[in-house]
Amino acid sequence: MFGVSRTPRNLVFGEGQRDALPGYIAKVGSKALVVTDARMTMDTNFKAMIDGVSAAGVKTCVFDGTIAELPLDCIAKGVTLGQAFGADVVVGIGGGSCLDAAKVIGLLLAHGGRAADYYGEFKVPGPVLPLLLMPTTSGTGSEVTPVAVITDPERAVKVGIASPHLICHTAICDPELTYSCPPGLTAVSGADALTHAIEAFTTVRRQLIGAIVHEHVFVGKNVLSDAYALLAISNIARSLKPAYDNGSDKEARARLMFGATAAGLAFGSAGTAAAHAVQYPIGALTHTPHGAGVAVMMPYVMEFNRGFCEQELFQIGGAMGLDLNGKSVSEGASETIAAVADLFSSIGISQTIADLGVAETDLPLVVDQALGSTRLVKNNPRPLDHDSMTKLVAASFAGDRSQLNEKPKDH
Ligand SMILES: NC(=O)c1ccc[n+]([C@@H]2O[C@H](COP(=O)([O-])OP(=O)(O)OC[C@H]3O[C@@H](n4cnc5c(N)ncnc54)[C@H](O)[C@@H]3O)[C@@H](O)[C@H]2O)c1
Ligand SMILES: [Fe+2]
Repeated sequence: MFGVSRTPRNLVFGEGQRDALPGYIAKVGSKALVVTDARMTMDTNFKAMIDGVSAAGVKTCVFDGTIAELPLDCIAKGVTLGQAFGADVVVGIGGGSCLDAAKVIGLLLAHGGRAADYYGEFKVPGPVLPLLLMPTTSGTGSEVTPVAVITDPERAVKVGIASPHLICHTAICDPELTYSCPPGLTAVSGADALTHAIEAFTTVRRQLIGAIVHEHVFVGKNVLSDAYALLAISNIARSLKPAYDNGSDKEARARLMFGATAAGLAFGSAGTAAAHAVQYPIGALTHTPHGAGVAVMMPYVMEFNRGFCEQELFQIGGAMGLDLNGKSVSEGASETIAAVADLFSSIGISQTIADLGVAETDLPLVVDQALGSTRLVKNNPRPLDHDSMTKLVAASFAGDRSQLNEKPKDH
């Protein structure tokens, strides 16, 4: 057995637990740069949180310039503000874009340089400013993961900074902060979370040669990520549609957030794979949200990978609550893939990358750029080369999963 867990020092979950924020900040600093976006600063919960932090004796400076999908220049503005303020702790409050902005700002305040200096794995030289993260979407899991994802105009696709130093000091997940998410946001962020859990559970199982925790930030499938992934899948599968249908269903909101954070704990050590690799160029071409792209890809990727992870797909179906009693592994895997596709279409997720706005002439570029995400490509259970990636991308364009399955050559 092999298990890796990369987690914050403190992880607090529950309705109203945002009240724990001031006490945690006061333990690590006295000048907090609060990284968020313009929407959040209008929220009454936000104002109350800032008042609570001030009452705990911590000075605050709010940077509300985060832009969704995190273009690089908004980060620089946050760094300049944090330097002028003399911040010794960074608080991120918002969706994944705000949490990732807080991570990168905390990194640049501690180590200087530009974000591009740290792209890739293990490039962060040491601890960053203490980070406290509070998600307001049930999606990315960024509050517990060792990665931040950025849109850099000098790069064709989004880039990641992956380092255990980017794991926050304290994550506080308060489902009440997600009550304001409209159905479309609930759908794409929740679908991103389910995709994290499925990709983490089906990712490659590496050979245990040497200390692979120091070679890869994302070490592949392991017993701890598996436990978090199944926890995530069972909670998200039961709550995503109810939370989408009725945003004031408190139990669904809580389960969805719990599932999204568990999914972050799963992929934070195991990694994600092909669905995320293909989303990067699709997002860049179509300017569609991250969650929309990974969710479109997920059923195609499951079918593409099934010869290499059919048993895992069967287990995923069980965690989703499908009745697979008496079914063969292959039948169960088929039902699981269909159930994920049905769930996503029931919450308005597109069925093909053409529906997201990709043109047929874009496909060679999508293939090349997806293969360029080596951090993600190396995690896929079925090896990806130019031919197989072309097949996967073409199928997701045509809306046809039927030709994707292939058994491993040595079986
Ligand atoms: N670091 C990681 O581990 C990780 C993992 C997956 C994705 N990501 C990244 O996270 C980003 C996506 O994050 P996201 O899906 O949370 O969306 P987001 O942060 O990009 O936010 C999308 C929109 O939703 C709004 N919003 C956020 N919370 C809201 C709420 N409670 N009510 C109403 N509106 C709200 C925001 O203001 C914004 O306009 C992408 O940049 C993606 O690449 C990071
Ligand atoms: Fe994601």
